[in-house]
Amino acid sequence: MARVAVVAGDGIGPEVVGAATAVLEAAAELHGVALTLHPWDLGADRYLRDGVAITGEERERLIGDYDAALFGALGDPRVPDNAHTRDILLGLRFGADLYINFRPCKLLVPALSPLRDPDPATDIVFFRENTEGLYAGLGGSFKVGTPDEVATEESLNTWKGVERIVRAAFEYAAGNSRGRVTLVDKANVLAREGALWRRVFAEIGSGFPGIAQDSMYVDAMAMDLVRRPQRYEVVVTSNLFGDILSDLAAQVTGGLGLAPSGNIHPGSWALFEPVHGSAPDIAGKGIANPLAAVGCAALILGYLGEDAAAAEIDECIVASIRVGVTTPDLGGAATTREVGEWMVDRLRNGRE
Ligand SMILES: NC(=O)c1ccc[n+]([C@@H]2O[C@H](COP(=O)([O-])OP(=O)(O)OC[C@H]3O[C@@H](n4cnc5c(N)ncnc54)[C@H](O)[C@@H]3O)[C@@H](O)[C@H]2O)c1
Repeated sequence: MARVAVVAGDGIGPEVVGAATAVLEAAAELHGVALTLHPWDLGADRYLRDGVAITGEERERLIGDYDAALFGALGDPRVPDNAHTRDILLGLRFGADLYINFRPCKLLVPALSPLRDPDPATDIVFFRENTEGLYAGLGGSFKVGTPDEVATEESLNTWKGVERIVRAAFEYAAGNSRGRVTLVDKANVLAREGALWRRVFAEIGSGFPGIAQDSMYVDAMAMDLVRRPQRYEVVVTSNLFGDILSDLAAQVTGGLGLAPSGNIHPGSWALFEPVHGSAPDIAGKGIANPLAAVGCAALILGYLGEDAAAAEIDECIVASIRVGVTTPDLGGAATTREVGEWMVDRLRNGRE
């Protein structure tokens, strides 16, 4: 029996998670997937009430007692520095060593792309390194607030860290009939980390002779993702470059409302969350697009090895857009709840 912790979180989180869990449960039931969902009270309300975002014991239990977690979103104007978000998300990311940030960017519905003539075959999966690079917190400040102020951020790259994300990208490509893996870096300027990434990429890549392999500088890649995104299948890159490029690719393939993500340590634990934030400007209005959260439900099923159930949810997403059962951001008039209910009905009764 798979156990999934559910953290609805802040803002639109409870709304989109409500729709996503309904769809997840319906798809699991339909495919005989043994799955239980367990709500967790984490977020701004709890932080403001108790003065603590998550305890060490809770963090251990969340990681140890569950196979995966589904998060809605965290971020609340009542917590101006979003301290609770950092404690919860970064605590879990580093606590569970979630070294893969998995970001599928598939053009499900070409009309949603801002590109003039998008290629319907566009389907990129990003493997963003999630624990190192410029996000490792190394660096320092000196003479803060004076004209002599110094601020440094250091990019941490370990052989172990690079090896495991590159290997994950190749293994995913091999297991999912993907013909190309592309390394993105800035090896012409960031020569030391570039050399490490390229050496490891070549070494791991030599074990996958059937897969085309190339590397791109990040600036050229930013242009190419707009010019010919259909060329890319699996992209592996560092924390910062992956953060930026996966948002670019998400926009090219339909935007924030559709983009799911996973933070994964294979075989251990994973946390799935929509790429969008808590959208306080529309919270409580019932108009938040639940499709990114529903996409996370599909990723959870895929992570649990339930590919047929996951594919069925993806089909539901495409179908809802095709028939126009969407929230206003995609041009429809449905509420968040109605989109979820329509999908559950489609799963249970095969109706559209
Ligand atoms: N991983 C996370 O939990 C996460 C990610 C990004 C931002 N945040 C937090 O969320 C809060 C708001 O951040 P922001 O405004 O920069 O980004 P945001 O993604 O919440 O919102 C950006 C814009 O997109 C719209 N939007 C976002 N999701 C939508 C959806 N599902 N349906 C329809 N419209 C949607 C919003 O209304 C807003 O206009 C901040 O506190 C931020 O720190 C959290």
